[in-house]
Amino acid sequence: MHEGAAPLGGFDGMTQGGNGARLDAYWMPFTANRDFRARPRVVVGAEGHSYRAADGRRLYDIFSGLWTTGAGHCHPKIVEAVSAQARSLDFAMNFQMANDKAIALAHELVGLAPAGFASAFFTNSGSEAADTALKIALAYHRARGEAGRTRFIGRERGYHGVNFGGLAVGGIGPNRRVASAALPPGVDHLPDTLDLSRNGFSRGLPAAGAERADELERLCALHGPENIAAVIVEPVAGSTGVLPPPVGYLERLREICSRHGVLLIFDEVITAFGRVGAAFAAERLGVVPDIITIAKGVTNGVIPMGGALVSQRIVDAVLQGPEYGVEFFHGYTYSGHPIAAAAGLATLSVYREEGLFETARALAPAFEDALHAFRDHPKVRDVRNFGLMGAIELEPRAGSPGLRGLEVHKACFWEEDLVLRNGMDILQFAPFLNARETDIFAAFDAVRRVLDRIE
Ligand SMILES: Cc1ncc(COP(=O)(O)O)c(C=O)c1O
Repeated sequence: MHEGAAPLGGFDGMTQGGNGARLDAYWMPFTANRDFRARPRVVVGAEGHSYRAADGRRLYDIFSGLWTTGAGHCHPKIVEAVSAQARSLDFAMNFQMANDKAIALAHELVGLAPAGFASAFFTNSGSEAADTALKIALAYHRARGEAGRTRFIGRERGYHGVNFGGLAVGGIGPNRRVASAALPPGVDHLPDTLDLSRNGFSRGLPAAGAERADELERLCALHGPENIAAVIVEPVAGSTGVLPPPVGYLERLREICSRHGVLLIFDEVITAFGRVGAAFAAERLGVVPDIITIAKGVTNGVIPMGGALVSQRIVDAVLQGPEYGVEFFHGYTYSGHPIAAAAGLATLSVYREEGLFETARALAPAFEDALHAFRDHPKVRDVRNFGLMGAIELEPRAGSPGLRGLEVHKACFWEEDLVLRNGMDILQFAPFLNARETDIFAAFDAVRRVLDRIE
């Protein structure tokens, strides 16, 4: 524990949480639960760029929440918008009626999206956004008389959340395994874009590998494009350790999709809202998909919200039939929740007023330098980055994959007052859009100390 830190404020063991709460009552997501309970890492507050731990320490957050909170924690304007909305309209039914904030946020999002985008369909999470996008793709083809287009193509190492549709198109073995037999059929996967032999230690987009998009051509030939509804990819894969697309790769995907009438979905749950120095990776990388999924940064992580942004031609195709008829039988009780929408509106205005997409872009070169300083570290296998997304891939410890990464996360938390994320042995970094360079350098100094001293 950090020198002089107070005891753990009640969070001190297997069954005792704060206020006597039983720790094992909480089954934690994507967590080694039993390991966690032995020494729980608990935060009780946050402000700006830091968390406050249960033992009173301030922890610098080099992961912006979970890629979510680019504008910083507890931003006063967003906090105020949320509390004002809770006082004025806490909830309203969103089926066959609407609230003003949901309409206003949809308008703003469509304005921010690439030209040709027309509507936003709201969800509560990125997982729901992915499943919604897949269903919109099916509805589009069906409405145009191509109901046979039902197949989806995802990508290995892709992450589209944990609902059945997103799992099926996702490409992470351990996530899929438990649901394997129950996943929707008719899904293929493109190969992932990581190629350490050709692109190790790339700064930004790797030079080699655009031809991996040609696998889509092969799948079109195999199944017949008339049977394929959509391709879904993260423009920069995040969760499996920051895999920027090779130069020209996304352009090739776009071209093949367009040629075969297959929709292209970009899952921008991580990459949207400044993370890559623009409103969307689509804008930054100059490739426009047909549907964009969002979540996380749309509300700065403050209130759960996601959505699918949809191009005009899709909306035009789906909104057909008698005017009194529901065109798309899909939605969530909380689609367009007024408090989430108010948080979203405040967040977008903070991004705009504080110029955060621009600050993120300006910060990216220093972040890149700080990351790539690990290039020669003996425990490092690769370093990758794009915008304010960065990863340091460690050499796994023999016989215990994932352990070294977890130990770095824990040592940073307890000994360096720093929060970072490890996905197995890949350390992931997502600084705030308005992070200070000195804080980023200090964080990486801490990571280096930990890497030097752990096994
Ligand atoms: C690209 C992508 N899609 C979907 C999701 C799932 O979002 P959620 O956890 O909000 O369901 C994530 C979460 O990290 C993500 O990174």
